[in-house]
Amino acid sequence: MQNDVVLITGANGEIGHGLITFLGEQGQSKIVALDLQEVDVSLQNCCETIIQGDILDRTLLGKVFDQYQFSTIYHLASILSTKAEYNPELAHRINVEGTLNLLQLATAQSQKSGASVKFLYPSSIAAYGLPDLKTKAAAGHISETEWCFPTTMYGCNKLYCEHLGRYYATHYRQLVAEQAQNEACIDFRCLRFPGLISAMTVPTGGTSDYGPEMLHHAAQGLPYVCFVRPDTRLPFMVMPDAIKSLLALGSAPRQCLTQFVYNVTSFSPTAQEFYEIVRRAFPQAEITFAPHSARQNIVDSWPADVDDSAARRDWGWAPDFDQRRAFDEYLIPAVQKRYAKVKI
Ligand code: SER
Repeated sequence: MQNDVVLITGANGEIGHGLITFLGEQGQSKIVALDLQEVDVSLQNCCETIIQGDILDRTLLGKVFDQYQFSTIYHLASILSTKAEYNPELAHRINVEGTLNLLQLATAQSQKSGASVKFLYPSSIAAYGLPDLKTKAAAGHISETEWCFPTTMYGCNKLYCEHLGRYYATHYRQLVAEQAQNEACIDFRCLRFPGLISAMTVPTGGTSDYGPEMLHHAAQGLPYVCFVRPDTRLPFMVMPDAIKSLLALGSAPRQCLTQFVYNVTSFSPTAQEFYEIVRRAFPQAEITFAPHSARQNIVDSWPADVDDSAARRDWGWAPDFDQRRAFDEYLIPAVQKRYAKVKI
């Protein structure tokens, strides 16, 4: 059995790409990467072990946990909000049962070794649900405990898994008293992410995807039809800050953490502002707006801004990229470089 190894599920996803690339460059962790699809070639050199498999496959997961003692698990695999609405029951199985499998195995490993396995879980602004635009405007930046009435299967799954994580960390098998008293539980830590934007990958199946899609289409000279109204406002964050927040929360001393779930955010543009920034960088871009009413309803139910003061207070969270820096110093130059390379 090898020591000090991190498990990353959903390795091929947006966060998986960013996290594996970052940890790989640091070279301090042995990475076991798991994904349903073959893990991208660009990530393979960063990983100790690559596993193509399903988080619903308990036999496979059991073997992985027998082989490795994990210090940290980044459970990133999930079906995002738009895709989940086309097959809610499948989304529930993957998003909830898959998470349950990992929580259970991580707990068993913590108990066996006596050392808490850290369990880092990305939740989402989809955990919120505001009833109408008037309430959304009046709500302003909302805290972790307000307006938790998600309208999507994905949002319900995320909110429930936040509670599952808290349960496994604090009350697991609470009636098996003497046995449970002395056993280590998992160290569950969760971030509620806003919409994420990376220069290196485009998300699939999400409802905040109009932001990254607009940028990546424009950079490739492809027309883009934005599926929300220009006045739609959501919180966003660039991938380097998402990775920074995951690692900062992961390395915070446990005694500093006063809650299991933390909002993080950096800026909140409207779709129109997004459009203007993208058009300034790519003046030829063909971007039109044709709102899709059902997807619009989902985005309208998500907050325009979130209150991340608990993260700032407890573990010193502060994003490196505000809106101007995000576009001028990261997104625009990086996508220009990326797609220029592709054309050559
Ligand atoms: N980006 C996600 C989605 O749109 C929200 O967390 O589904």
